[in-house]
Amino acid sequence: MRLRASLKPALASVVMLLLPLVAAAQKPPAAGNAYAQRYAALCAACHGANGRNDMALTPVLAGQHSFYAITQLFLFREGRRGNEAMSAIAKTLNDTDLRGFSDYIATLPAVPAPPPAEPADATRMAKGQALAQEHKCFACHGADLSGGQQVPRLAQQREDYLQLVLQEFKSGKRPGYTMAMGEAVGRIPVEDLDTLAYFIARFAPTVAAPRK
Ligand code: HEC
Ligand code: HEC
Repeated sequence: MRLRASLKPALASVVMLLLPLVAAAQKPPAAGNAYAQRYAALCAACHGANGRNDMALTPVLAGQHSFYAITQLFLFREGRRGNEAMSAIAKTLNDTDLRGFSDYIATLPAVPAPPPAEPADATRMAKGQALAQEHKCFACHGADLSGGQQVPRLAQQREDYLQLVLQEFKSGKRPGYTMAMGEAVGRIPVEDLDTLAYFIARFAPTVAAPRK
């Protein structure tokens, strides 16, 4: 009797603790979940409330894939992807947090980038597209550059951030989770990387669908 009496509240509290976890595992996080609030408090200042921001060299997260995001948060936490601000934040996150933030990021809808101040330079766009085809960017990142799973979405990303990370993959400063990017940019001359960033930042699949 005494045992059952003491177990009951203990069991009840275990069930209470597990229920939200089980529920969280079954459905994707809704806008009202705890990570929406934590994102607003901890991440939005740099990444923007909806995952699109005006801060230089800070990636757009809207439309990014959960698998890719969790991998990068892990690399920041382990100090294998170098960025002081992000590493400092990632070090405060446990595994459940990495999952929670990544799943929340994946719910932020990809929105079209604001229209560029000037019309795109057609010659530069054509050069960028030719480079992207030659170096198989579409093969991994998708014909619409929306990525998938561990391959990041590139469409709608900021140009300054794309420029930076392509240079960092080339120089080896950003090692990557896989060898994929080091190999992809290894043979591309440094000066062509900015052309690729220019092209990707202005890429719209309907006007620039890759040729066969
Ligand atoms: C102080 C500004 C700042 C804050 C706050 C911040 N970030 Fe970042 N974040 C950055 C910068 C800058 C980068 C790009 C780092 C680089 O160049 O490698 C980044 C990169 C990322 C990436 C990788 C994106 C990609 O495309 O590779 C993810 C995911 C991310 N942040 C998630 C978060 C989450 C989740 C939070 C809140 C818990 C957060 N960030 C808070 C500045 C910030
Ligand atoms: C073999 C597959 C593959 C090819 C080809 C490839 N990529 Fe990637 N790319 C990846 C993967 C996987 C990642 C994630 C990086 C990691 O490993 O951490 C990535 C990451 C990136 C990122 C970083 C995005 C971010 O949000 O930080 C950029 C930019 C990028 N690729 C651009 C390109 C361009 C431009 C090309 C063509 C020159 C290209 N990729 C070719 C697989 C590929």
